[in-house]
Amino acid sequence: MIITLDGPAGAGKSSTARALARRLGWFYMDTGAMYRAATLVALERQVPLDDSAALAALAESLSIVFRDDRVFVGDRDVSGEIRTERITAATRRVADAAPVRDVMKRMQRRLAEGLDVVTEGRDQGSVVFPQAELKVFLTASAEERALRRHREEAARGVATSLEAILDAQNRRDEGDRVREVGAMRAADDAVVVDTGGLTPDEVVERLAQLVEERRA
Ligand code: C5P
Repeated sequence: MIITLDGPAGAGKSSTARALARRLGWFYMDTGAMYRAATLVALERQVPLDDSAALAALAESLSIVFRDDRVFVGDRDVSGEIRTERITAATRRVADAAPVRDVMKRMQRRLAEGLDVVTEGRDQGSVVFPQAELKVFLTASAEERALRRHREEAARGVATSLEAILDAQNRRDEGDRVREVGAMRAADDAVVVDTGGLTPDEVVERLAQLVEERRA
C-alpha cells in the first residue's frame, strides 16, 4: 500500500510521515531529501544549476538510498549536509528542472516497488503515485507554520524574527505552487488535513485512522 503526504513546508510532513511509517513498520521515503542530495552533488561537481540536462544526467547517475532513517548517496551519508541553508536555496532551482523531476519520479517509483510506503513531498499524490491508496495533503495556515518554525529555531538557539520567517516561507510556497512541472497541489482525491491546533501525535493518530479505514 502507498500513502502519499504532500503539502507546504512547515506543515509537519516529515515528522508526521516518519512517525506514521515507524508505527506501521513501513518504508519512509523523504523525496525532498532526494532533491537535496542531488543538489549537494551538483554543487560539489560544479554542474551549472541552469543546465537542466546536465542536472538530470547527474541525478540519473546517483544511487540514493534510505537506510536507518538516514539518506545516502552511494555509501556516503549525506543526511546532515543536505539540510544547510545553502543546499535548501539551491535545491529549489534543481527541483524546478523538468528533466530532473522526470528522473526523480522514476527513481521514486523504483524505490517504492513492492513495498508498503509512506512517501512525502510536493507531488507524490498528484504526479508520482496517482494510484496511491491514501493521499493526504497536510496543511496549516502560513502564520501557524511560521510560528512553529520560529519556535524550533529559538529552541536551537537561532535568533530570527517571525516576520523574516514568514516572508521566506511565503516566497517558498509561491515557488512551489507556480512551478511549471510538479507544482505543489492536493491531488483531486486527496484528504486535506489541517494540522493547525493539533499536536504531532494527534496528526499521526488521525492519519493512522485514515489508513485503517482504507484497509478495511
Ligand atoms: O521538503 P524539503 O524542504 O526537503 O524539499 C526540498 C526542496 O525540494 C523544496 O524546494 C521542494 O520544493 C522540493 N521538492 C519537490 N518535490 C518533492 C519534494 C521536494 O520539488 N516531491
